[in-house]
Amino acid sequence: MPALSAARATTVEHRRWLAKERDSMVGCFPATRFQHGGPMAEFRIETLDGGITQLVISGTVKDNDFELFQMISQASKKWSHVLVNLSQLQHWTPRLFSELQAVSARTRIKAISTDQKLVAACNDAGLAVFPTIKSASLSYAGDETLHLLLRKLRDVPILNTEAYRLIAYVSSNDATFPGLEALIKNNPGLVSQILRWANSAYFARQSKAETLQQAMVTLGFSNLRQLFLFNFYTSVGGLFQSQAAVIDHGRACARLAEYICKSAGGTAEECAKVRMGGLLHDVGRMALAFFFPEHYERVAQQMREKNIPSFMAELLVFGTEHQTVGSLLCNRWNFPTYLGAVIGDHHYLQAENWNTLTLPVFVANNFLHEMEGAPFHPYFSKLEGYFFLKRKDLPWKHLDQEFRAFLAQPSDGLI
Ligand SMILES: [Fe+2]
Ligand SMILES: [Fe+2]
Repeated sequence: MPALSAARATTVEHRRWLAKERDSMVGCFPATRFQHGGPMAEFRIETLDGGITQLVISGTVKDNDFELFQMISQASKKWSHVLVNLSQLQHWTPRLFSELQAVSARTRIKAISTDQKLVAACNDAGLAVFPTIKSASLSYAGDETLHLLLRKLRDVPILNTEAYRLIAYVSSNDATFPGLEALIKNNPGLVSQILRWANSAYFARQSKAETLQQAMVTLGFSNLRQLFLFNFYTSVGGLFQSQAAVIDHGRACARLAEYICKSAGGTAEECAKVRMGGLLHDVGRMALAFFFPEHYERVAQQMREKNIPSFMAELLVFGTEHQTVGSLLCNRWNFPTYLGAVIGDHHYLQAENWNTLTLPVFVANNFLHEMEGAPFHPYFSKLEGYFFLKRKDLPWKHLDQEFRAFLAQPSDGLI
């Protein structure tokens, strides 16, 4: 009998052997093994280009298919990632997914299927599922990119910046205004920034805020956090210095997205969040280009040659895109969760709250791409939908001209 543990051994061979054995015993078994009146699943291990191991399972998986379950277990011990191709699977038992789930703690499993029920079963078991071998293989490359990026990020002194410490402080449950004042009072640049903003027309105070404490109370923790995030972004911009064009794009997107939100009657808090989302939406792109400059050159090349948007070219080169990288960084840097959601969704609009926070960023971003002559998603009907939901009439007759005129105005100084 062929050993099941042999690296490239296939169970097709194993089952042929079983069939042969049975044939030799009784002489009337068919070539495919049957049990309880039905055929069993076929499965085989393959090595794909790039050295990825693929386990192909087809036919019918039953609860008592111990050979298959044993193979899954052995494969997970042998390889750090296994692609499980279910595209030819016809019938299965929930046990298949509990077995895959059990080994997924040991090895990174990615399943392949387009069958909706199978996709749902994979999702229930917490398994990543992809429509094609190519997309699943790319996703391994993406995992690797993210892993490498996080390692490189550890060597960057970014988390030591004062702005980052202040974000962490105002995000904590113990944050108090006197505590914050103690952290800020010796930083004249930051004190004047806070006073200037608290006394700006934006907050329309009756009387002038004269002390740091008054100014901080006027702004509130939520706005102070936005301010520290902005300062942090500036320091990130300084770090990713080669990305000046992306930084300018972020600033323009922030202003335009906030303008859209304000025009639709968004609250001051919503506008501040949208502005910050617009500012940071491409932070993942900055990080990819900074940490992997040669690879990012290839992204730029793919964008030019194939006329595809940045995130699609990134997927081809890195196996991941800047939205995922941006959300990951937000998580790493303890940014508020809404920022991760806006950044992660700014090209797709899949999250449930897209209409309130992500949509103005989506529209502003695509308008800017259109203006820059880059590939963009149509955004006008989405903008109409946003205003409809906000129960406001669209205030622009000639959107293109009016948005351009707005962007040509000087900014309010914060961005
Ligand atoms: Fe983007
Ligand atoms: Fe963008």
